[in-house]
Amino acid sequence: MFIIGLEGTAHTVGVSIVKNTGDVLSNIFETYDEKEGIHPREAANHHASHILTSIKKAIEEAGIEKEDIDLVAFSQGPGLGPCLRTVATAARSLSLALEVPLVGVNHCIAHLEIGRLRTEAENPVLLYVSGGNTQIIAFTKSRYRIFGETLDIGLGNMLDKFGREVGMDFPAGPKIEEKAKGGVELLELPYSVKGMDVEFSGIMTAALNQDASIEDRCYSIQETTFAMLTEVTERALAHTRKDEVLLGGGVVQNKRLQKMIEKMTEERGAAYYVPEPEFCIDNAAMIAWTGYLMYDSGTSISVEESNIRQKFRTDEVEVTWR
Ligand code: ATP
Ligand code: FE2
Repeated sequence: MFIIGLEGTAHTVGVSIVKNTGDVLSNIFETYDEKEGIHPREAANHHASHILTSIKKAIEEAGIEKEDIDLVAFSQGPGLGPCLRTVATAARSLSLALEVPLVGVNHCIAHLEIGRLRTEAENPVLLYVSGGNTQIIAFTKSRYRIFGETLDIGLGNMLDKFGREVGMDFPAGPKIEEKAKGGVELLELPYSVKGMDVEFSGIMTAALNQDASIEDRCYSIQETTFAMLTEVTERALAHTRKDEVLLGGGVVQNKRLQKMIEKMTEERGAAYYVPEPEFCIDNAAMIAWTGYLMYDSGTSISVEESNIRQKFRTDEVEVTWR
């Protein structure tokens, strides 16, 4: 069985062909390059202008014909309305034209499922840190539940905003990581953990107002925010009694964050897993694969039920496949 997955919640439009065996045959993506912060309508236009060629490329690279496709899966939410709508329209058209079923996938759950496919993680706590999202998710009592999350903005967005203010190009995350290596002094920044949740805006404002070198500011932002995430992840592990941490989202490519999580899991006797970079960032393979898991366990939707869900919560999904 061949599944085509379409992703388009934010900056990235992606198309992938995955086999029901878990083989990823193609994984195409195009990213909207933001200069002044993401503009939803412009990102949607970007996706609209790339989706057809991406579909063709994905099918060609997979070495199949479009008639071989058995299922269409798309990212139903959460995300930016105009982006989601553009990609959902393409998914509906494909499903109707090919006369195959349609499945709407929760983007956050897909980050966890692709990690379970690509690594040896079986029942992990997911630390998902991207541009728009920061969540700690785990499977308990037959649902994926959010154990902690950002109360304001995603950490990636915070890093990108800070970067923009100090003259770095988008995406600023990797540039901040580079600069942080030269940092020597840990500046005092607000450590904002509230229960199991975190906040980043105040840290950014404080870092912008500090009279210190760019290296020290980047270093201090990383040390503070990553320590917050490590603390909350550790508490989620203790609470759920799980012994695996899975990382997902673009920010987890950061080596310093990986190191902190590695140390924490080592001390607890737990394991930690990071998928390959192309499966950490937003990608369509995760949508295709999760769509398959859902379909295989009896879930599909009609075109009438395929409305996008901008605020789609992880715990709203009825998990039929675990
Ligand atoms: P989502 O819809 O999941 O929020 P997104 O497009 O905002 O998606 P991703 O593609 O998962 O996010 O990741 C992009 C983010 O990752 C950017 O904010 C970027 O700055 C950040 N990032 C990438 N590499 C690094 C790094 N090495 N260190 C820190 N942040 C990084
Ligand atoms: Fe994502």
